[in-house]
Amino acid sequence: MDLAGLIARVRQIFSTDKVDVDEVRRAMGEYKSNPDDWRHFAQFDPNKYTRNLVDTGNGKYNLMLLCWGPSMASAIHDHTDAHCFVKILDGALVETKYDWPKVEGEALHVKERTVYDTNGVSYMSDTLGLHRMENPSHFNGAVSLHLYIPPYTTCNAFDERTGHKTKCTVTFYTKYGCKVDYTGSKEGKCDGQELKEITTTFCCTTPEQSNSHSETAVITA
Ligand SMILES: [Fe+2]
Repeated sequence: MDLAGLIARVRQIFSTDKVDVDEVRRAMGEYKSNPDDWRHFAQFDPNKYTRNLVDTGNGKYNLMLLCWGPSMASAIHDHTDAHCFVKILDGALVETKYDWPKVEGEALHVKERTVYDTNGVSYMSDTLGLHRMENPSHFNGAVSLHLYIPPYTTCNAFDERTGHKTKCTVTFYTKYGCKVDYTGSKEGKCDGQELKEITTTFCCTTPEQSNSHSETAVITA
């Protein structure tokens, strides 16, 4: 199964109202990462990790690639009542899980720390607490495939020392392989088109390499 096959399978799983979370996890696990499948979406920024939208499943989920430069990490965050699956496509990521803060002003308590290598799959939701994802390599990038069900546009970031939370907006660096421009637009402007049929041909054949992107919002994984 290639990435197009995985997208087709996820779309099929979500074609009914009842979604089997275990089936989604199985599908994510059965796909074996092949850079030829996802290179088009893997657009890095030297200053921050990037979120690159691949598929929305008709509004039922968001499937995206996250590209992490060396040592980059997300904020500690929640997931707005969504299910969150992460599959490592290249490199490795460390997930640190925390309990929800109990007393304002107290440091967050670490529950567990897990290393996921290429092809590993993690699952997270608000019932399991909060987490932070980070690329532990000081030299190599990492790429991960994230599936959020249902999609969300805001979540909360937490201060590790005080538990203080801050609402943040999540944005995309690219959509369907094309750069999103947030200049003067909260939603962002983008020429990318969602794939109606599963194919390996995408809207932009040459990904834009410009660093002029003006995104300022906090991004979380
Ligand atoms: Fe997350």
